[in-house]
Amino acid sequence: MSAPLCIEDLRAWYGAAQVLHGVNLRIGEGEVVALVGRNGSGRSTLAKAIMGLVRCAGDVRYGDVQLIGLRPHRIARLGIGYVPETRDVFPALTVRENLLLGERKGTRFTLGDAYRLFPVLEERMSVKAGALSGGEQQMLSLARTLTGDPSLVVIDEPGEGLAPQVLAQVAACLATLRERGVAMLLIEERLTIASMLDARVAVMGHGAIQFDGTIGALAASEHVMRDWVSIG
Ligand SMILES: Nc1ncnc2c1ncn2[C@@H]1O[C@H](COP(=O)(O)OP(=O)(O)OP(=O)(O)O)[C@@H](O)[C@H]1O
Ligand SMILES: [Mg+2]
Repeated sequence: MSAPLCIEDLRAWYGAAQVLHGVNLRIGEGEVVALVGRNGSGRSTLAKAIMGLVRCAGDVRYGDVQLIGLRPHRIARLGIGYVPETRDVFPALTVRENLLLGERKGTRFTLGDAYRLFPVLEERMSVKAGALSGGEQQMLSLARTLTGDPSLVVIDEPGEGLAPQVLAQVAACLATLRERGVAMLLIEERLTIASMLDARVAVMGHGAIQFDGTIGALAASEHVMRDWVSIG
């Protein structure tokens, strides 16, 4: 079952440096929210804070559960999947081995589903993950997260460095996930995949949410676009 994510007054630090300064954000059941903003605005740090990977304070509730203070593996087990910027694959293992590592029994997303969504992974199932292209690694990383059967996926810059055709494939996969009721926090620099999915948009700037609304409302908000969103 999905549970809404509710973030209130979230602050985060690396050592003495505070990076998040009171983030408020809600993701409803099965909802897709795109988090955009400039380099260094704190988007990946928000992802890490949700996943228990950075020191933080405030409230991050998933359903009735307070995530702050929980270890990352406990957070994952609650049904929150994470695809980090670094594309989390084991380079020395084959594609198939990578997928089997993430798999949980009785999930709504099986190895067969992974191959159906990303046929290239089936073609390359015996290839070592380290030998895949960037796009293939992105797909593998996403598929690996899905075999853990998450209700919410936090996915950090999935389109980064991908050719347009591969990007469209990743977007199509995310659309399929949404149809299955999986909620998403989709981190991007611009609204590339977000606009394909017509996601709700939150704009991060200086470690806080500067705008939260539809893509149409954001486009009409010239000052938000000018001050907080990368153009071009
Ligand atoms: N491990 C770290 N140690 C110290 N400072 C960090 C660390 N990771 C990020 N920062 C700093 O925190 C701020 C926010 O970084 P974050 O990675 O969250 O930004 P971002 O919005 O994801 O941008 P991008 O992905 O383009 O780097 C930046 O000033 C960055 O230099
Ligand atoms: Mg980042």
